[in-house]
Amino acid sequence: MAGSRRRSSTLAGMTPEGHASAPVRVGLLGCGNVGGALAEVLAEDPEGLFARTGLRLELTRVAVRNTAKARGPSVPEHLLTSDAAAVVTADDVDVVVELIGGIEPARSLILDALKAGKPVVTGNKELVADLGDELFQAAAAAGVDLLFEAAVAGGIPIVRPLRESLAGERLTRVMGIVNGTTNYILTKMEAGESYGEALAEAQSLGYAERDPTADVEGFDASAKAAIIATLAFGQKVVGGDVAREGISGLTPADFAFARRMGFVVKLLAVAECHGDGSVSARVHPSLVAADHPLASVRDSFNAVFVEGEAVGQLMFFGRGAGGRPTASAVLGDLLDAAHSLRGGACGRLPQPGRARIRPFEDLASPYYVSLLVRDQPGVLATVAGAFGRNGVSIRSMEQEGAPGGDARIDFITHTATERDVQATLTELRELEVVDAIGGLIRVVA
Ligand code: HSE
Repeated sequence: MAGSRRRSSTLAGMTPEGHASAPVRVGLLGCGNVGGALAEVLAEDPEGLFARTGLRLELTRVAVRNTAKARGPSVPEHLLTSDAAAVVTADDVDVVVELIGGIEPARSLILDALKAGKPVVTGNKELVADLGDELFQAAAAAGVDLLFEAAVAGGIPIVRPLRESLAGERLTRVMGIVNGTTNYILTKMEAGESYGEALAEAQSLGYAERDPTADVEGFDASAKAAIIATLAFGQKVVGGDVAREGISGLTPADFAFARRMGFVVKLLAVAECHGDGSVSARVHPSLVAADHPLASVRDSFNAVFVEGEAVGQLMFFGRGAGGRPTASAVLGDLLDAAHSLRGGACGRLPQPGRARIRPFEDLASPYYVSLLVRDQPGVLATVAGAFGRNGVSIRSMEQEGAPGGDARIDFITHTATERDVQATLTELRELEVVDAIGGLIRVVA
């Protein structure tokens, strides 16, 4: 998605001699955690910002649902309005920042802003992942920027590096810990907490929502994975292309086994470009070798690990959520948009063609499979037969349990396809000696 530069209209009212100090006027849609932090950052040190960048940014309008709610000194009452549609077309707004989230009304407001010739900065991952084409076409038609650094991994600069710095690189794989809430929960489970305890803690700290589904079932990470895959490989991947499994089925036994085998458990977003040019994107709990750089990413931190043919391995690490870190990403985009306005150019995003998606069933990796079985003579041979009949080779196994009672057998397989492993599980579930599948985690090196 590397962009060529092309001419567009210059900032209204700016004369060449006025360029240095005329403020770029910002209309903000949504003033929650990130919007409020952005207002703070803009108000804090405008002279410092001008000294560093040669630009002044002035917040001129702020659209919120509740205008009666006090927003603090950075958002004076006279800036507030409930009329978001008026903000995007207002004469005193040069750049629109959309931080409402969700599909509507964010989509319509962004389209209206672009049609009015205003660059837009958004942190809306869902919108960019699923309706990016429509928005980028509108931005291209208007000749203005549509920037979305905050949509992936909050404060970590990853969109611009993928789109610009690495534009010429033949990237092969990008793996990310792109959801801070689940990384926090997994870190606590690694320390011995149950899923329920760790989730409750994440909720009390404000990381997880009361309804945590979007985070814990991997929806949030899937939208980010789709954006990452599109940027990394120049082929359009949408949220629905991403194979997804969340963390809510993980148990303390999975973590204990992972530790014994030299792994940690991470919710990874993995985007790959395969040898035949097809692309895959998936989000699922993954066993990561304890000495891999991603294994050291703990608590609510995010990281994105990028692999390319010439550049080798890179890792971007930092805060993937939170008001000020995410506002930092929005501010960088705002300055970029402001520079474009001042220079009469914009970074044009080409619309890539649809990706050829490699089916999830065709992806291959080693697997951890855990079985709860009766501990009787011949059980191991019976379950091992199911692996063998489906072409899944066992690399190692470990059994815990008292003779005559129930046992847990943990297997690590050699590299096998998802299709063959699922066929194995189907057969295993039908065996009388197997009480349950205790766990299944893909090993991602
Ligand atoms: N809820 C997300 C997280 C942040 O926990 O990382 C917003 O995408």
